[in-house]
Amino acid sequence: MSVDTVRVAMGARAYDVRIGQGLIGRAGAEIAPVLSRPKVWVITEETVAGLHLAALRAGLVAEGVEMEALSLPPGEATKSWQYLTRVVEWLLEQKVERRDMVVAFGGGVIGDLVGFAAAILRRGVRFVQVPTSLLAQVDSSVGGKTGINTRHGKNLVGAFHQPALVLADIDVLGTLAARDFLAGYGEVVKYGLLGDAAFFAWLETNGPALAAGDIGVRQQAVRHAVQMKADIVARDETEQGERALLNLGHTFCHALEAATGYSERLLHGEGVAIGCALAFDLSARMGLCAQEEPSRVRAHLANMKMKRDLSDIAGELPDADGLLALMAQDKKVVDGHLRLILVRGIGEAFVTAEVPPDLLRGVLSEALSARG
Ligand SMILES: NC(=O)c1ccc[n+]([C@@H]2O[C@H](COP(=O)([O-])OP(=O)(O)OC[C@H]3O[C@@H](n4cnc5c(N)ncnc54)[C@H](O)[C@@H]3O)[C@@H](O)[C@H]2O)c1
Repeated sequence: MSVDTVRVAMGARAYDVRIGQGLIGRAGAEIAPVLSRPKVWVITEETVAGLHLAALRAGLVAEGVEMEALSLPPGEATKSWQYLTRVVEWLLEQKVERRDMVVAFGGGVIGDLVGFAAAILRRGVRFVQVPTSLLAQVDSSVGGKTGINTRHGKNLVGAFHQPALVLADIDVLGTLAARDFLAGYGEVVKYGLLGDAAFFAWLETNGPALAAGDIGVRQQAVRHAVQMKADIVARDETEQGERALLNLGHTFCHALEAATGYSERLLHGEGVAIGCALAFDLSARMGLCAQEEPSRVRAHLANMKMKRDLSDIAGELPDADGLLALMAQDKKVVDGHLRLILVRGIGEAFVTAEVPPDLLRGVLSEALSARG
């Protein structure tokens, strides 16, 4: 199968996202054009290293590119001050210079952490994203948002730092656990819901084949999502406007992730799917979109065997006021006013600060009471 190239048009900082099969095995040839010397420093995590690091090394060596690697523990807890220090100190020990190339090889956790380390090392070294999870391929590896979590919350410290290249080898998604794959699908479906009704309809037809491992569908889905993200990021890199639409469902999601302690109870992409469904509920309640739209969204998530309601989250949750308090921590709060992404229909998202608190509380209360 052929490789697709999506260009992220950012003037002097423009870069390609390469999407296709077998890219890791050809990593040396892919990366060589952006290198100033034939050596890269790869930061990865143990799960991905065990499955795919040997193939990456072979792909690099085949073109005479040498590689040093650092492997960190997998999981969200690695996106921390502690591991940021570890990565930066390791790169300094390795005498990585300003023009050298760092490679982030893993899911969104590694991409965000390593991108941030690259942003601050020597005031900015170049890096390549080699995303290995569906979420990272369709979302986090593109657009240059990097960062870590602190005890105050997720993604609160970070920088915009665009990669020099993104290599999305869709073959590596074959080793993802089914739950991680579906969590990544939460971000895929988000693109249709926020700005492309035809893509949502395509996913309604093709989503089950994607989950079952159809490679052609996988390539199309990743390419389409990346193209949408690339277009939005090129128009609004630092989220002054349109880029905020990519956060559809995320204010609900971040509150639910905080409520579940960023644990296995709820993965990020699962929270996004539930959050999107809640954003549709609220939009319907406010008379912004047709009453049938939330049901259509949930029907598709159900067909994909995905979480879609608060009742799909095991264990205790705070009450509606507790969830509202957590939503108020969101980065999109301006002067204490909650700004939400709502919809006029599937594919028609917009940002608003005009959310009647009682309607929002009502939607949350109803969603909580359905948990029984
Ligand atoms: N920067 C952005 O724009 C952006 C956008 C969305 C999400 N994010 C961030 O991304 C993170 C979530 O990313 P994620 O879902 O990729 O999490 P992750 O990096 O923790 O990966 C999820 C799981 O999949 C495993 N894994 C990854 N690739 C694998 C492979 N090929 N085979 C087998 N297992 C594999 C990992 O070990 C992990 O257990 C969050 O921290 C979120 O904040 C960032």
